[in-house]
Amino acid sequence: MLVTQPLHQDVIDLLSAQFDVQASNKKLSTDEIINQVKDVDALIGSVNDDFNADVIAAGENLKVIANFAVGYNNIDIDAAAKRNILVTNTPNILENSVAEFVFAHMLALSRKLVEADQYVRAGKFSEVLLGSFLGIELKGKTLGIVGFGSIGQTLVPIAKGFGMNILYTNRKGELPEFADDPSVSYQNLDDLLATSDFVVLLTTLNEETRHLIAREEFKKMKDTTILVNMARGPVVKEEDLVSALENGLIAGACLDVYEFEPKVTDKLKEMNNTFLTPHIGSATVETRKKMAACVAQNVIDVLKTGECKNAVNKHLIQDQK
Ligand code: GLV
Repeated sequence: MLVTQPLHQDVIDLLSAQFDVQASNKKLSTDEIINQVKDVDALIGSVNDDFNADVIAAGENLKVIANFAVGYNNIDIDAAAKRNILVTNTPNILENSVAEFVFAHMLALSRKLVEADQYVRAGKFSEVLLGSFLGIELKGKTLGIVGFGSIGQTLVPIAKGFGMNILYTNRKGELPEFADDPSVSYQNLDDLLATSDFVVLLTTLNEETRHLIAREEFKKMKDTTILVNMARGPVVKEEDLVSALENGLIAGACLDVYEFEPKVTDKLKEMNNTFLTPHIGSATVETRKKMAACVAQNVIDVLKTGECKNAVNKHLIQDQK
């Protein structure tokens, strides 16, 4: 089996106990993967690998592609299904890590944590400045969650703890389990954008959500709103985000993902109303260890039984039968 980049060591250790593992200590390019995948039965990588139809075609013996991630938009799951290759992900693990990170982002930008930290490190703290570093509080603000799956729902108790009002919009519409909760309301996207102080994106990336947030949507938001993207970069049209920030259509942006990542639009880096992290929403010791165990088990399940509860393209394989 081939591991395409340095992942949590547990993945390698758990699999090496039973299989021959070829693990790269630097991230392989797509061409390098194509050159090395021919004889392997399992391909293990993550969101920054492009497991496209060419990679899949080159993997003549592939049985499983195991993504070290919950999202799998980096994998051509149809091409894999056509070759009876199961694609697996790591669901129900990273909810808390990402939910806490959403709040880390919102607090970092609203309380100017980066500027304050840089100020102290630069030796500028000579007296307490009562007129500076004024931020805003989360209490009483409206949190609009776009994509109310398991991560979005994990935000709810935390947001309530901060005294926020919670709105959500969702592909499945209003969810009965929140119907009686007075602090959580379903809204359509336009109304949610028009009333939220923080808009948090947690949708999966697909053809319907690509550029879900672009110029027209920024125009609907309040000029005090902060956008938080924890989903996938292309959910936001980055060019329109830059212009919305430059023209004061919204107040700020917290981004963990980027339309052309790992490239980040230079202007976003120059602004002080952005808070930027390098796609690390699930990066906690606790979560990554569980993800590693899950990835290893997914590979073992497919190779030993031909099945896996975390297979995401089984329905496509069945459809062709
Ligand atoms: C991270 O982006 C993931 O999908 O796990």
